[in-house]
Amino acid sequence: MNVLLINGSPKPKGCTYTALCEVEKALHERHIDTTHFHIGRKAVHGCIDCGKCDTTRRCAFRDNANPCADLMRQADGVIIGSPVYYASANGALCAMLDRVFYSAGADFRHKPAAAIVSCRRGGAGSAFDRLNKYFTISEMPIVSSQYWNAVHGKTPEEVLQDGEGLQIMRTLGKNMAWMLENLNHGKSVITLPESEERIVTSFVR
Ligand SMILES: Cc1cc2nc3c(=O)[nH]c(=O)nc-3n(C[C@H](O)[C@H](O)[C@H](O)COP(=O)(O)O)c2cc1C
Repeated sequence: MNVLLINGSPKPKGCTYTALCEVEKALHERHIDTTHFHIGRKAVHGCIDCGKCDTTRRCAFRDNANPCADLMRQADGVIIGSPVYYASANGALCAMLDRVFYSAGADFRHKPAAAIVSCRRGGAGSAFDRLNKYFTISEMPIVSSQYWNAVHGKTPEEVLQDGEGLQIMRTLGKNMAWMLENLNHGKSVITLPESEERIVTSFVR
């Protein structure tokens, strides 16, 4: 089994990466493989609602949204990490995730997921909520930890001093492994719930 670790910071080895690595250690101890994906530093386009993905299930922009969606399709579980920017997730990450989930969200149904955030001081809660919204609209079960998933620090060295934050990450990794093992064992005897035909009501009378 494989868990995709998405680093939504422009820094490849910053605080978010440090937190993801702590989750990863706990996953590896339970023989779950991991794949890293870094959002990078290039400009990221927001969704332009062109509708192309309605038929193709792929984003029309040729950037890292489709490769990210493909890795999410292949993964058994997903963890999305972001630095906190102005009390929310990194805007560039959200710009990419809007397109990933709008084009491919239906393919992630029942895939366990979790968000983690890294902040210097405040705004972790709202950033965490922002990322969890992607999962709850996509029927993805959220894996939880012993507290809301945040580490504190401006540098990786500071994050490594956040003993509680690191423990939250390890607990999350253990819980993700446990959830994946349960789902793997159960899939031969328990069938997935059927999907109803989608009702879309864009207004309220
Ligand atoms: C544009 C910007 C906005 C930020 N906003 C916040 C904030 O609202 N709250 C906070 O505690 N830290 C804020 N920070 C600090 C980062 O969230 C923090 O240093 C984080 O751990 C960096 O993670 P990284 O090394 O993975 O990029 C901000 C940093 C930047 C660059």
